[in-house]
Amino acid sequence: MKNKGYFITFEGADGCGKTTQSELVQKYLEDKGFEVVWTREPGAKGLGQNIRQLLLHYDGDVAPMCEAFLFLADRAQHIEHLIKPAVAAGKIVVCDRHTDSTIAYQGYGRGEDIGQLKYLNNLATGAIKPDLTFVFDVSTEVAQTRVGSEKDRMESAGIEFHKKVRQGYLEIAKQEPERVKVVDANNSIEKVFEDTKKILDAFLNQ
Ligand code: TMP
Repeated sequence: MKNKGYFITFEGADGCGKTTQSELVQKYLEDKGFEVVWTREPGAKGLGQNIRQLLLHYDGDVAPMCEAFLFLADRAQHIEHLIKPAVAAGKIVVCDRHTDSTIAYQGYGRGEDIGQLKYLNNLATGAIKPDLTFVFDVSTEVAQTRVGSEKDRMESAGIEFHKKVRQGYLEIAKQEPERVKVVDANNSIEKVFEDTKKILDAFLNQ
């Protein structure tokens, strides 16, 4: 089992705690003897880091489809240079955000056509899908307090936008219940990690 590569993604609205959970999962899997690569979108490394800078800190107007294409460009680079080779080498890729972020943020949040975004996601990834996806679901009010007052361009999009993003994630999970597992992230870090581990162990033992 340890030689089979997996691609696991961590999703949710800003402030949901997914980065903390993805780091805990990385350590948990490494302690079990798996080789793990932790990565993120946007901006894993190299060119992607420049794209992340533009996406999160450019302070002029950005057309919604320009925003979508920048996330997709980062993804195409990421999948080809990092995710695909790591999974092929039998590693577990733990990825903080991926395709579902585009559907939740640019689709449900910004209102871009979800069918088109799915098509573009497939183009960017060569139709490679995560084996397992966690959605950390937290009330928008709690999430906003966790984000704090220093917000980047996406975090500054407003509470109504973030409510739509949250609902978008729940809709995605409803549509793909086999792949996408929702974890209640209103709880403490320890409790959320317990719930996450249960899902992860069930996935690894199947
Ligand atoms: P992060 O701070 O969790 O790394 O995420 C960066 C921001 O980019 C976050 O607000 C979500 C947003 N995002 C999108 O809007 N679409 C996407 O496809 C991705 C990957 C992230």
